[in-house]
Amino acid sequence: KSVRDVAELTGKRVFVRVDFNVPLENGKITDDKRIRETLPTINYLIEKGAKVILASHLGRPNGQVVEELRHTASAVRLSELLGKPVTKANEAIGEAVEAQVAALENGDVLLLENVRFYPGEESNDPELAKSFAKLADLFVNDAFGAAHRAHASTEGIAHILPAVSGLLMERELDVLGKALNNPERPFTAIVGGSKVKDKIAVIDKMLEIADNIIIGGGLSYTFFKAQGHEIGKSLVDNSKLDLALEFIEKAKKLGKNFYIPVDIVVTDDFSADANTQIVDVDGIPAEWEGIDIGPKTRELYADVIKNSKLVVWNGPMGVFEIEPFSHGTRAVAQATAETSAYTVIGGGDSAAAAEKFGLADQMNFISTGGGASLEFMEGKVLPGVVALNDK
Ligand code: 3PG
Repeated sequence: KSVRDVAELTGKRVFVRVDFNVPLENGKITDDKRIRETLPTINYLIEKGAKVILASHLGRPNGQVVEELRHTASAVRLSELLGKPVTKANEAIGEAVEAQVAALENGDVLLLENVRFYPGEESNDPELAKSFAKLADLFVNDAFGAAHRAHASTEGIAHILPAVSGLLMERELDVLGKALNNPERPFTAIVGGSKVKDKIAVIDKMLEIADNIIIGGGLSYTFFKAQGHEIGKSLVDNSKLDLALEFIEKAKKLGKNFYIPVDIVVTDDFSADANTQIVDVDGIPAEWEGIDIGPKTRELYADVIKNSKLVVWNGPMGVFEIEPFSHGTRAVAQATAETSAYTVIGGGDSAAAAEKFGLADQMNFISTGGGASLEFMEGKVLPGVVALNDK
């Protein structure tokens, strides 16, 4: 059920878990997408005359108060976006917060302090969940990005208060769910990123449900080595060589197209002014490392993307943060932006890449989740979502 199904919201105290885990540089928010995406839920509650109590984590303070991880910047940004004052609490529970909640008028917004300043948040301590629950009459979970965490403010509280999803949560589950459960074909899954171990489950799942699986990024070199190529100093997971071969075999058996790069950009140093060259997969010099997909691969991948009806992209093709190593990720982002297919960006680094290249607006859907969308794509149940269904 979503917040739209709640009949009476006027005067109700609503504890809304949001994911305001936004990137910060010197105290400034560098990407406010996660805040902007929660506006529909917050505005809905304001319009209905609810008392809105927002809670989120920020970073990983490990149960301690870390000054730089206070929600100060988010409160200011949210207030600008809403065009109304947002009160920021200095704590997330306790008497002072309870008094601030008691002082709320209908339609007011209060942002609690970082919930991860309390050790009980990540350990999902029922006592902390009770202290959160005490503040409100209803729990709304709009933090899709944190739905893979069974924490006190995402999962624990849902067992105490009536609990529903927010509008962002609803949209994320709807779009990702429809794409994966009832995909338009050909369905192309692009899986990049640096580590094989982080992407095993998603590759496995995509082998089941997608038609084309495109591999890129640092994880490619484990596939190269498994196939007997020299990979120089490229990233590799030697414990996953057999698995890499199994994936290739499985794809053949299932009649899926499994693409690994045919050429790559190699570098002699991990920096913007390093020497680079383009080599075929069997041409990586011993002292060099692979850092991006090459031009033939870019063209091949762009072609597959263009001929798809659904594209789901998770993970960059190279070290896109450094300009000379960004061309592969840019090409995939460009093709994904231009294709007539329905395009879903699975959050995290790929979302940041689409944003960096100015292509975000041309994608059909960019998830606010990183780890959460990855786990969703793996077919895992998300504890923050299950707890809502339980109720
Ligand atoms: C994210 O940024 O993916 C979410 O906010 C979850 O953060 P976490 O990985 O620190 O739990």
